[in-house]
Amino acid sequence: MSHPPAKLDINSDVFKLPILEGSVGPKVLDVSKLYRETGYFTYDPGFTSTASCESKITFIDGDKGILLYRGYPIEDLAESSDYMEVCYLLLFGELPTKKEKEKFDHDITYHTMVHEQLNHFYSGFRRDAHPMAIMVGVVGALSAFYHDSTDISDPRQRLIASYRLIAKMPTLAAMAYKYSIGQPFIYPRNDLSYAANFLNMIFAVPCEEYHVSPTLEKAMDLIFTLHADHEQNASTSTVRLAGSSGANPFACIAAGIASLWGPAHGGANEACLKMLEEIGTKDRIPEFVNRAKDKSDPFRLMGFGHRVYKNFDPRAKVMRKTAHKVLGELGIDDPLLEVAMELEKLALEDEYFIAKKLYPNVDFYSGIILKAMGFPTEMFTVLFALARTSGWVSQWHEMIEDPVQKIGRPRQLYTGPTQRKLTPLDKR
Ligand code: CMC
Repeated sequence: MSHPPAKLDINSDVFKLPILEGSVGPKVLDVSKLYRETGYFTYDPGFTSTASCESKITFIDGDKGILLYRGYPIEDLAESSDYMEVCYLLLFGELPTKKEKEKFDHDITYHTMVHEQLNHFYSGFRRDAHPMAIMVGVVGALSAFYHDSTDISDPRQRLIASYRLIAKMPTLAAMAYKYSIGQPFIYPRNDLSYAANFLNMIFAVPCEEYHVSPTLEKAMDLIFTLHADHEQNASTSTVRLAGSSGANPFACIAAGIASLWGPAHGGANEACLKMLEEIGTKDRIPEFVNRAKDKSDPFRLMGFGHRVYKNFDPRAKVMRKTAHKVLGELGIDDPLLEVAMELEKLALEDEYFIAKKLYPNVDFYSGIILKAMGFPTEMFTVLFALARTSGWVSQWHEMIEDPVQKIGRPRQLYTGPTQRKLTPLDKR
């Protein structure tokens, strides 16, 4: 449906701004010709009102707490699909048939090994390196090993690179963990599912049999599914921006990993668990809630609030249920879960959090589950990166294939000095 354009009046000169309408979600003012026609830029720090691209992959309604991958609600995918199906859906736009799924599973499985020389990269890192630091390095380094899939003008190479990234991330992540604890790397196993293979590479040792618990396998797969994509967040926008210059996909995903690492984004799950540990007991919760409300204190409740969700994060709802299930099935009675539940209750009843629409986000519960599964906190964001790789590569594909795609180049509101004369050093 076409709309009459919006009118922008600048000192009595009226400019027409086309209004675009997506399949669902708010309408969009097309300002792409604004500078050319008016000499004005728009100013929008943090892109709170700016759509940077057209996309058909993921939709979020932040007010209603809705998240759809290619039109399917996240709750339904979490209930009835698995992560491999979700990867296929994100990449190709439709859920796979049984045959397509078998082929996709096979193709991903057969790309899980990494070049043997990549092992040497790990020994170059300090043992106490943060695994995200290692991931930024080794994922970027993949471009030095897989030259045959870095020509982004070739659709086949683009697809091979995407399969390689989805397939090799678990292997690289598990290697980062094994290196940090001084255990030998465990090779991937083609007879296991994506999630089970990852758990095996993380927790198995060569000297004894390791059986992947079906409860853990299911929980791991669910965590991957819930984190697979989230439209134009900071790391995805980073991947798109890096890719817009024509950089190869391995380098772009490394850029995404770097962006994800921050505590306001993927690093929040690690920060949230550390916060729950610091709170320690229920009686200390009010003290932390008060700190979060105090404007003179930089402390924020980690795992609360979201740029887009102004309602419950639907992923947090699924995660909450899973946390109880996993801890119950594993027979773990974690006092942190009680602290988390009480904190959630107090914050949801608090005027400050109600007024600012601050609800628990996905990271609020994921840390508790991951801890119960045996992952150290430093690995939490790595798991997020692993899962988000499918979303990143899908968004990267969409960008490359978009006919209006051009190099990303935001403008600025310059407030620095105007041109001035340089005084030589001896005269300053
Ligand atoms: N605790 C206390 N106050 C908060 C919090 C919080 N967690 N989050 C936002 N606020 C307040 C903030 O101080 C501001 O108040 P005021 O309007 O008085 O200045 C108001 O709420 C709006 O916050 P904002 O920083 O302008 O909102 P934003 O959209 O820029 O930030 C956010 C979103 C996720 C960075 C922020 O809510 C936050 O820092 N949360 C904690 C970190 C976290 O859990 N991040 C994970 C996000 S979900 C996973 C992912 O996508 O990576």
